[in-house]
Amino acid sequence: MSNSKVLVTGGAGYIGSHTCVQLLDAGHELVVLDNLSNSSPEALRRVQQITGKTLQFVEGDIRDRPLLDDLFANHSIDSVIHFAGLKAVGESVQQPLHYYQNNVAGTLTLCEAMAAHGVKKIVFSSSATVYGDPASVPITEDFPLSATNPYGRSKLHIEEMLRDFSVADQATNELSPWSIVLLRYFNPVGAHPSGQIGEDPNGIPNNLMPYISQVAVGKLEQLSVFGGDYDTVDGTGVRDYIHVVDLANGHLKALEKLDQPGSEGVSTYNLGTGNGYSVIQAVEAFEQASGRQVPYKIVGRRAGDIAACYAAPALAAKELNWHASLNIDDMCSDAWRWQSNNPDGYS
Ligand code: NAD
Ligand code: UD1
Repeated sequence: MSNSKVLVTGGAGYIGSHTCVQLLDAGHELVVLDNLSNSSPEALRRVQQITGKTLQFVEGDIRDRPLLDDLFANHSIDSVIHFAGLKAVGESVQQPLHYYQNNVAGTLTLCEAMAAHGVKKIVFSSSATVYGDPASVPITEDFPLSATNPYGRSKLHIEEMLRDFSVADQATNELSPWSIVLLRYFNPVGAHPSGQIGEDPNGIPNNLMPYISQVAVGKLEQLSVFGGDYDTVDGTGVRDYIHVVDLANGHLKALEKLDQPGSEGVSTYNLGTGNGYSVIQAVEAFEQASGRQVPYKIVGRRAGDIAACYAAPALAAKELNWHASLNIDDMCSDAWRWQSNNPDGYS
């Protein structure tokens, strides 16, 4: 498995850059394809600095078929890890076509190019958002799927599309069927322990942990806690926060799975810790890790939010031999190291 050549789409982004570090450390050769629409080339420079290894970067778009044809013709790619996509829920409600074009059409173009060049192993970044408002927790992979916004539906459409052509391909092309791993991430947070790479959201963060970090570093005044009346431990929303380095390692395990005999078809795994933390518990953990106060006030619920969401991670443990090993304190102290060393992110 070492020295395989992996195409990482969206590799300059938050999760992609952390995964590149783990992949390079494990001895893989990397080609990163990213249009830099939500990332900086500085992240890739730092990935190479952390690892002392080089990767090849192609600036471009997954919807650009001629570029993909050149890329596959010029590199003998063994497998693809596909992170590239847009991910802001609110923006997806305002610009659904843009989301379907970028995420769904982009993945379709990527897969067509892969098929044309005989590359049929792909790991896809899905999300716990495909479970919608789950009837209970913890969530297993066989829970009903229902997205509540265009971003979530783009993930669902892609999952279904990948399942469809895997089935068709297995029926007609037994010699080289697709092997596909769908990874449903819970809430990725934290940063590389070096403090050199991390999450660098544009503008005011939508997600909890980057918002808390920016309050702690003094860039934002106080956190608004969305809802204090949920049926949870303290009334605030509960989520399964997972350290981005654990998540990155899940991709290495998924790649190993793709290489095993019998991996043809589609396998789907939750990547979460199996533990839920409330907003208040997350604030307290961050205060402890940073030594800073995080002032907050409880406000009304955010539209579309659910009370509690956490994974049953047993299937990934059993079939991928993967489990999260870092805890909420690691997540907060690594996020804080990144935020305090880089108050303005990569810029
Ligand atoms: P990110 O925005 O930091 O990274 C995505 C990368 O893809 C960016 O570098 C962006 O420039 C690139 N990109 C976007 N559209 C592209 C295109 N058409 N062609 C080429 N490159 C393109 O996001 P992330 O947090 O690292 O997320 C990575 C993947 O994981 C996404 O697919 C996202 O939907 C999924 N995901 C993220 C989360 C999360 O909370 N961060 C949770 C679940 C799933
Ligand atoms: C959000 C997305 C989800 C996406 C996930 C990626 C929405 C509605 N959902 O999920 O589709 O897959 O990010 O990580 O945007 N909170 C506050 N104050 C804040 C921000 C958040 O109290 O300023 C609370 C939320 O109400 C929630 C928890 O913190 O209870 C986590 O929120 P967030 O980080 O935005 O993640 P999700 O809502 O789980």
